[in-house]
Amino acid sequence: MYKITPPNPPAKARGNMLFIILAAFLLMSCGKKSMPTLEYMPDLYRQASLKAQEWDPHSPNGVGMRTPPAGTVPVNFEPYTIGLLDTNAANALTNPLTPTEEVLAAGRKYYNTFCVVCHGVQGDGKGYIVPKFTMPPSLLSDKLLAWPDGRIYHTVTMGQGLMPNYRQQIPTDKRWAIIHYVRALQRAAHPQPQDSLQMATGRFNFMDDAPDTAKAVLWPKR
Ligand code: HEC
Repeated sequence: MYKITPPNPPAKARGNMLFIILAAFLLMSCGKKSMPTLEYMPDLYRQASLKAQEWDPHSPNGVGMRTPPAGTVPVNFEPYTIGLLDTNAANALTNPLTPTEEVLAAGRKYYNTFCVVCHGVQGDGKGYIVPKFTMPPSLLSDKLLAWPDGRIYHTVTMGQGLMPNYRQQIPTDKRWAIIHYVRALQRAAHPQPQDSLQMATGRFNFMDDAPDTAKAVLWPKR
């Protein structure tokens, strides 16, 4: 006679058992729909505030989101009244910022965020998106050298041809800072005698600004 001793379940079976028990616990919460489920931190979803589409008996249109009174503008809203083709008025705008180091740093940051993809690190129009997208004109041209700051600001604010406007994305002061930076790019492309020393020592190298994404372009480099 010999006794049959039940073998210890192998490690894998034990793991399965644990899983089944855990799943059973989880499924318990899917039971009767009439029973309130457990709410962790209910104050997060039960708030006094109304969601935009929520029913609001006190609102004239019945939903949480109300129609703003006529003439309402967002906080810090600055109207831009110059028409797309009113280049005379645009030319007359003056840059309110002086090109301090901070302003140029901000301009560089915003240029390399919003403009670089099309206009290129140096402003020559060889952005990463080219040739998938039409190559934009160079910002270093004689035409642009002659354009007053206001005209460039107007282009960024209103857009031009294929170029969309950046009125919503870039705050006013950052748009003006970008224009100071475009001036710096222009000066780098057309250096003045006093710039040559600093350029020779490599203090200013605009290629350093190429973001990492530049390395990951999918099509062959031009
Ligand atoms: C989506 C690509 C794209 C982006 C991003 C972009 N541009 Fe442009 N930009 C263009 C194209 C294309 C043109 C030519 C538009 C036309 O005249 O049809 C242009 C034209 C311009 C011009 C006028 C040049 C000329 O010779 O008429 C200026 C100035 C300019 N861009 C500045 C900027 C600045 C500053 C930024 C960043 C805030 C920017 N652009 C962002 C594509 C872009």
